Amino acid sequence: MAPKQIPERDPDAEEEPVVEIDRVTKRYGSLVAVNDVSIPVRDGEFLTILGPSGAGKTTLLHMIAGFERPSDGEIYIDNRPVSDEPPNERNIGLVFQSLALFPHMSVKENIAFPLKMRREAPEDIDGRIEEVLELVQLPVDYKHKPVGDLSGGQQQRVAFARAIVYEPTLLLLDEPLSSLDKKLREEMRSELTRIHAETDLTIVHVTHNQTEALSMADRIAVINDGALEQLAPAKEIYAEPATPFVAEFIGDTTMLDGTVDRVDGGRATVAVGDDGVAVETDGGLTPGDGVRIALRAEKIALDHNSVDADNAYDATVKQVAFEGDQTQYTVSVPSLDTVIDVTHQDPDPETVFDRGDAVTAGWDAADTFVYDQ
Ligand SMILES: Nc1ncnc2c1ncn2[C@@H]1O[C@H](COP(=O)(O)OP(=O)(O)O)[C@@H](O)[C@H]1O
Ligand SMILES: [Mg+2]
Repeated sequence: MAPKQIPERDPDAEEEPVVEIDRVTKRYGSLVAVNDVSIPVRDGEFLTILGPSGAGKTTLLHMIAGFERPSDGEIYIDNRPVSDEPPNERNIGLVFQSLALFPHMSVKENIAFPLKMRREAPEDIDGRIEEVLELVQLPVDYKHKPVGDLSGGQQQRVAFARAIVYEPTLLLLDEPLSSLDKKLREEMRSELTRIHAETDLTIVHVTHNQTEALSMADRIAVINDGALEQLAPAKEIYAEPATPFVAEFIGDTTMLDGTVDRVDGGRATVAVGDDGVAVETDGGLTPGDGVRIALRAEKIALDHNSVDADNAYDATVKQVAFEGDQTQYTVSVPSLDTVIDVTHQDPDPETVFDRGDAVTAGWDAADTFVYDQ
């Protein structure tokens, strides 16, 4: 196969990408698992590929690792096209959900395994193992313990140590925290962030967990049904979701479908149910357009009396879920013919609502996202 031209560089990228996923498609028979995806991964970044189960995340990672070949497109690592390069020549570290440790072998034997495969000198191996144990914060005297005797969190640390002991240019993580309980998962999230900060590793991490992506990633690539929906810094993904899918998948979001009724400067009114919703527009909306409006649960005000906002509706509290630091409400809005999710942080006892309460629900035009259908 003739090597392809190296694709045009993103002029905004600060440096050459370490990995360039360039217009990659993967088909299994008639099923398109990955559909024309391009992602440049920057040197030293923590990039998370986020999407629901079946979106094509593992397939993408397997193509970077070399376990699968793209049907179309190419993957470049350090500017080399790698489709013809076997996995062991790619210098990549891997941690998958099943940690694939050898439970009867010691911590040291597990971590030394990739070094021995690479025929490193035994005298170098010991030093390297001690360094990497320190990096993952496991006591050095754990070296001789069988991995099977360690706790789940300690085994996770051994798996990370084994993946980075030979200083790969790239670390691939496929849902490595998804089998852990909530507390341990949160601890390992900050551990991974710390390890990334203390090394110059480039990390490509896959998860279906929005919070995990938002809390760890420098940039997030959201994929759905094999296709890239948005690639942006984590904050931007949350603040400016590019598509209805991203708006709905990330955060607690209610979608309203309607038709543009009036446009007046930077404002539009969208007919929803028997009522109207004021939204902001940059000029892209025309009366008659079918649109989807996304509302974030934390942007919606509730009050026993009135709400001072661009949009305010009579509503009824249908469900209340007290979660300690926040309260989640399910609120029906008859005039919009819809039910919306509302989240209030640190609830003030004055504004705690009960099931069945008649309330006003409101939000500003600027707090909605609008998408042409
Ligand atoms: N080896 C395979 N053969 C056939 N279909 C596959 C294979 N691997 C994955 N798929 C299909 O490709 C799609 C994407 O799978 P996958 O990449 O595992 O998704 P994710 O990791 O996002 O859950 C799914 O529909 C899955 O069933
Ligand atoms: Mg997967």
